[in-house]
Amino acid sequence: SVFSSSEALSRHVAEIVATIIRERQAQKATAVLGLPTGSTPMGVYRELVRMHQEEGLDLSNVIAFNLDEYYGLKPTQLQSYHRQMHEVFFQHVNIAPENIHIPDGMIPLDQVDAYCEEYEAKIREAGGIDLMLLGIGSNGHIGFNEPFSIHNSRTRLCTLDPITRRGAASDFFHEENVPHQAITMGLGTILEARKVLLLALGQGKSSIIRELLEGPVTNRVPATCLQGHRDASVFIDSAAGIKL
Ligand code: GLP
Repeated sequence: SVFSSSEALSRHVAEIVATIIRERQAQKATAVLGLPTGSTPMGVYRELVRMHQEEGLDLSNVIAFNLDEYYGLKPTQLQSYHRQMHEVFFQHVNIAPENIHIPDGMIPLDQVDAYCEEYEAKIREAGGIDLMLLGIGSNGHIGFNEPFSIHNSRTRLCTLDPITRRGAASDFFHEENVPHQAITMGLGTILEARKVLLLALGQGKSSIIRELLEGPVTNRVPATCLQGHRDASVFIDSAAGIKL
């Protein structure tokens, strides 16, 4: 679907998220959400916060799993996804702290594999992800699954692509400050979500959106793995759609 503005897109996506939360609530069940960071989904989080504060949207049945975190960043550090998620979303809504999961970027190297397995186990114990929201990197990455990530990859420590590090340079004031690694859910983890919504805003994403929607499934563009998912949708604004 193509939206005329990022606000319209954010409102629509927030409504989908809220509907799933309410439906699951009516069944006395949890709603398990997979959540991205980056600039694209921020409007969705703001809209959900507004719905919570002004319309009484209850998020007490939500279990949240974030997609990724930079490796080596403390949760309090400005650029950490922990901090971004808490500031924009978690601290303003009623998701129980024990139901908030974000990969720990400070986990010592010798414990990373066990930690990542545990993250996967927690997702399984929660019953799997009901709704996975995604952004997309300009090189086609989802989470931090960079080009040539394999389709059955799981949560793991991975190396960032030079294009990704360059793209993040302004957040870190200089490219050399951008971490070289991150912990990310795998493509296999993402593909197991029951419903996937990939969001993209702005002309800078128009080439990769064309590759995603009109190109072949290729490991070079990790997001194209979603072409094989039975309930994946792509929501973009008109600027991201100009090359379609
Ligand atoms: C980062 C994140 C991705 C995100 C991407 C796009 O690399 N790890 O999850 O989708 O950036 O970011 P933005 O939405 O700011 O364009």
